[in-house]
Order: sequence, then C-alpha cells, then structure tokens
Amino acid sequence: MAKLTSKKTGKSVEVEDGRYIRKAAEELGVQFCCNVGTCGACAIDIVEGKENLSKLTQEEKDVDMDENRRFACQCRIKEGEVGIDY
Ligand code: FES
Repeated sequence: MAKLTSKKTGKSVEVEDGRYIRKAAEELGVQFCCNVGTCGACAIDIVEGKENLSKLTQEEKDVDMDENRRFACQCRIKEGEVGIDY
C-alpha cells in the first residue's frame, strides 16, 4: 500500500500501489475540475517521493509541468510515500 501525505496538514491517505492518486488527493483537499489534465486546477507540488509517481503525461508536458509540479489527476503512485503541497 502506498501513501499520499499532505505536507501542509500532515494528513495521509493510503492508495493501492499503481492507482491514480486523484481520490486520495481530493480527500486531502486538492481541488479538481476537468480531470483530464488541461485546466490546471489540481496542480500540486511534489515535496518528496517524486520517484514514486508515474511519468509525466503528454498533457502535463504540454503545459511545461515537471517532476516537482504535477497535475494530481494525471499521476499514479507506484509505491511508497509521496508528500505533496498545494
Ligand atoms: S483537474 Fe484539470 S488538470 Fe487536473
């Protein structure tokens, strides 16, 4: 089981390995809108564990996101812990 943690509040939500982080991020208070990587509403800073996330999607590359700043609707967590801020 992987874990998504808000570095702002210290709250963590478990995510099954390989799953999208969307639901967990929503529980932590991240706002979502389009869910397809175009609106930017779900942008988060990856404070730790960026290596535990899936690769950048084309949607993220199109708007110059990088491994430290991702769209939560586009990321899957591979394993381990990822710390985010938003
Ligand atoms: S919800 Fe629009 S980019 Fe993620």
